[in-house]
Amino acid sequence: MTSYAEFYRRSIEQPDAFWAEQAKLIDWKTPAQTICDYSHPPFARWFVGGTTNLCHNAVDRHLKERADQSALIYVSTETDEEVIYTFRELHAEVQRMAASLLELGVRKGDRVLIYMPMIAEAAFAMLACARIGAIHSVVFGGFASGSLASRIEDAEPRVVVSADAGSRGGKVVAYKPLLDEAIRLSTHKPESVLLVDRKLSAMNLVAGRDHLWGAMRQKHLQAEVPCEWLDATHVSYTLYTSGTTGKPKGVQRDTGGYAVALAASMKHIFEGKPGETYFSTSDIGWVVGHSYIVYGPLIAGMATIMYEGLPTRPDAGIWWQLVEKYKVTRMFSAPTAVRVLKKQNLEFLKKYDLSSLKALYLAGEPLDEPTAQWISEGLGVPIIDNYWQTETGWPILTIANGVEKKPSRFGSPGVAMYGYDVKLIDDITGEELKGPDQKGVVTIEGPLPPGCMQTVWRDDDRFVKTYWTGAAGKLRYNTFDWGIRDKDGYFFILGRTDDVINVAGHRLGTREIEESISSHPNIAEVAVVGVADQLKGQVAMAFAVVKDASLLVDAAAHLKLEGEVMAVVDKSLGAVGRPARVRFVTVLPKTRSGKLLRRAIQAVCEGRDAGDLTTMEDPAALQQIKDLLAS
Ligand code: PRX
Repeated sequence: MTSYAEFYRRSIEQPDAFWAEQAKLIDWKTPAQTICDYSHPPFARWFVGGTTNLCHNAVDRHLKERADQSALIYVSTETDEEVIYTFRELHAEVQRMAASLLELGVRKGDRVLIYMPMIAEAAFAMLACARIGAIHSVVFGGFASGSLASRIEDAEPRVVVSADAGSRGGKVVAYKPLLDEAIRLSTHKPESVLLVDRKLSAMNLVAGRDHLWGAMRQKHLQAEVPCEWLDATHVSYTLYTSGTTGKPKGVQRDTGGYAVALAASMKHIFEGKPGETYFSTSDIGWVVGHSYIVYGPLIAGMATIMYEGLPTRPDAGIWWQLVEKYKVTRMFSAPTAVRVLKKQNLEFLKKYDLSSLKALYLAGEPLDEPTAQWISEGLGVPIIDNYWQTETGWPILTIANGVEKKPSRFGSPGVAMYGYDVKLIDDITGEELKGPDQKGVVTIEGPLPPGCMQTVWRDDDRFVKTYWTGAAGKLRYNTFDWGIRDKDGYFFILGRTDDVINVAGHRLGTREIEESISSHPNIAEVAVVGVADQLKGQVAMAFAVVKDASLLVDAAAHLKLEGEVMAVVDKSLGAVGRPARVRFVTVLPKTRSGKLLRRAIQAVCEGRDAGDLTTMEDPAALQQIKDLLAS
């Protein structure tokens, strides 16, 4: 067995040979001629000349050996449904969906926006797009009209696939009116909307535009739609994510590099074996859902569970019941979800036979010791923290137990993964910090390995300007995270360097929330900061200056306006973006040059020292916030 150190060294020193080897994990129609074309840094083109297909690798490829084994296990505790699709059945459903999309005029390279709850049809739609070479753009079902509209505007989809409604904690959330409103707000109008009718909420269909999946599926019951062989560099999808500015970025991913990266990660990191079951509790609207609900496990020939419902309903044993029932071997979740379960009785963990489970992978936010210990004792399996981003598509830092078993280290997601040349950089001098235990910005020396973002959708310039620094020939990708590396190469992630916050594992831009709040007619100015929270990791807190302060006569008026502002956010971003509190002040702390002092506000909210405030215009502004917090 190779040591991980040797495996890693080879990936960095001989990347072509290393990735040519990994490329054998998937099927190719034609093999690549060039493993990595990095002639125009920072744009890396992987497996140039090769042709393949993600859907073929996730579905068709398995028909020969496991057609009648489970592929997709759809469980909803919201609608009390449980449907198992074998690879053969999944193959048929995906072709029905692909034929429907083709009938609606979707062609290779066209965008299809998917705004769906966690139902099997969402996975069919993603795979159907991959099959015909259409570019999917999944928008998290928890986002509301404003967020959806900006994504429709940017992705310009020919077709939107959606549903009448989702359901959360027994409460129906109608999607169709939110979608109609988003299309109304957007200057781009999709030609068609394909709707799954779950009979949860009545729909008003727009004649000529809206089509029902039930009828389309019936029409294409026997459809045979072959996989389109696509260039490895063909765009497979875009997924929007928050950054420093209010406008979300369309992270653009390729086809061949992504397939290889996922296949390799399933082998080396997740150790998934064909025929086993994988259970990721994420949502298809996030990157974890793309990589480790849909594509990764299926490429590995595993069955994957798609679960619609809360972790605590009907009781806090539901996840473990699924692990027992489907003999889950590998499970993926987020620390927040584990913290939610931790508040419940440990008995729920003990009630089920969890002997099939081999490891639990956690990502998306820092994993704290009490949470790690609680779940580790409860499950008795390794808890594997892994650190990555929407941009990278698969882990940057973790432990590759499939290569060499290594112990996890508390508080650290692990070591640099193969292919990632991770460097810590001094934020002021830009110099590399080579010694142990020094705090710097986590960067990755170009080229990024296969599977990572190719560019920002239709905005190469933004890709270069946002993420890349350093001199030509030595360009570095900025993760916007602070980190430390110990003497053994284990990293520790210390939070974002920018205005991105992480609420319950959901990545949100404080600027997006600020823009939304500012659209309230009585708000003149607002600052949103992320504040440490025991359960959610962070929550958003808003401090706003009102235009007409005379309205805020008493506490009741404050609460009324706070409620109104929250309703505005709910309507534009969705409940995910709603701040925990909106407080009103007469002035916000700023530098003399007018820059908002978000860090100082955050420090005060967390009870920390606000640091050097000599550049502050009006010290009373921060005092107002302190007084509010004390009241
Ligand atoms: O700040 C880091 C944090 O989440 C950010 C990426 O979020 P997102 O694009 O939603 O991708 C999530 C993919 C798992 C990172 O920049 N983050 C992610 N994983 C960890 C983490 N922080 C600490 N520990 C982690 N394991």
